Amino acid sequence: MERSLSMELVRVTEAAALSAARWMGTGLKDEVDGAATSSMRDVFDTVPMKGTVMIGEGEMDEAPMLYIGEKLGTGYGPRVDVAVDPVEGTELVATGGWNALAVLAVADHGNLLHAPDMYMKKIAVGPEAVGLVDINAPVIDNLRAVARAKNKDVQDLVVTILQRKRHEKVIQEIRDTGARIKLIEAGDVAAAINTAFDGTGVDIMLGSGGAPEGVIAAVAMKCLGGEMQGVLMPQTDEEWERCKQMGLENPEKVLLMEDLVRGDDAIFAATGITDGELLKGVQYKGSIGTTHSLVMRAKSGTLRFIEGKHSLNKKPDLVIKN
Ligand code: FBP
Repeated sequence: MERSLSMELVRVTEAAALSAARWMGTGLKDEVDGAATSSMRDVFDTVPMKGTVMIGEGEMDEAPMLYIGEKLGTGYGPRVDVAVDPVEGTELVATGGWNALAVLAVADHGNLLHAPDMYMKKIAVGPEAVGLVDINAPVIDNLRAVARAKNKDVQDLVVTILQRKRHEKVIQEIRDTGARIKLIEAGDVAAAINTAFDGTGVDIMLGSGGAPEGVIAAVAMKCLGGEMQGVLMPQTDEEWERCKQMGLENPEKVLLMEDLVRGDDAIFAATGITDGELLKGVQYKGSIGTTHSLVMRAKSGTLRFIEGKHSLNKKPDLVIKN
């Protein structure tokens, strides 16, 4: 992949965030998602690549755009697989909650896991704890390992987990260790990424969330030198079948970094829609929209925080809200 692709791709998440953020707090989830998806799609068409959506808004017959299999880019340039989540945390934008992101990940063709749309059990840690956790180990063992690696006591750790009924047992297990917990409403991509930055105060992410989000987070963790492990959780015969159709012969196998995103090159871009620990949300003032983005490349290990000032007069399509 060309080095300059990173900078092209951050324009895509910026556009999605600028459009979605206008709908913050409206309670209108479909409008939030529609605005972001449409802007993301438009800007993708200007990016010099031969892309195919591998993780997207759904199958062709259920999503008008950014559907799985859709071609993206100018058609010239590297052949890449693309994972998109125009709004990671739709509910968060609709309610003005914390940590909604516009995100995408790109890897050389064939290198992203074709994650089916189902739940995945996940564990994510930053660089200091790489190689020390095991998704199937007891919670206490993983927390002890992370604490040791970070030279902390288990009680000092902060564990992020989605506040869900299905997590009651694991939340109790975390509480029993004495570790602190950040219960989040949505957005486990941001939760995973935050484990790699000391300033966020988060040490580990546990629990289950969407499998597509798991692959996107794995690309981010690859760029950050962190680690993500996942186990798909097919709930019905249909979901088991879907795993098999996607080439996952043993759906309950532990998916390690190399299974989630192969090779040493991948690009991840995210722009804050609402405020979060790592990225601020979009701010509008007069004709200026300000965005905060993170763009990273696994091959070089370079990560950039980019503040964008966008002249909305010159990009009227981005901020239309009827
Ligand atoms: P959306 O972007 O589709 O709103 O997903 C938000 C999210 O919280 C993800 O971050 C997470 O992986 C998944 O939903 C969890 O699913 P559920 O809300 O069903 O527990």
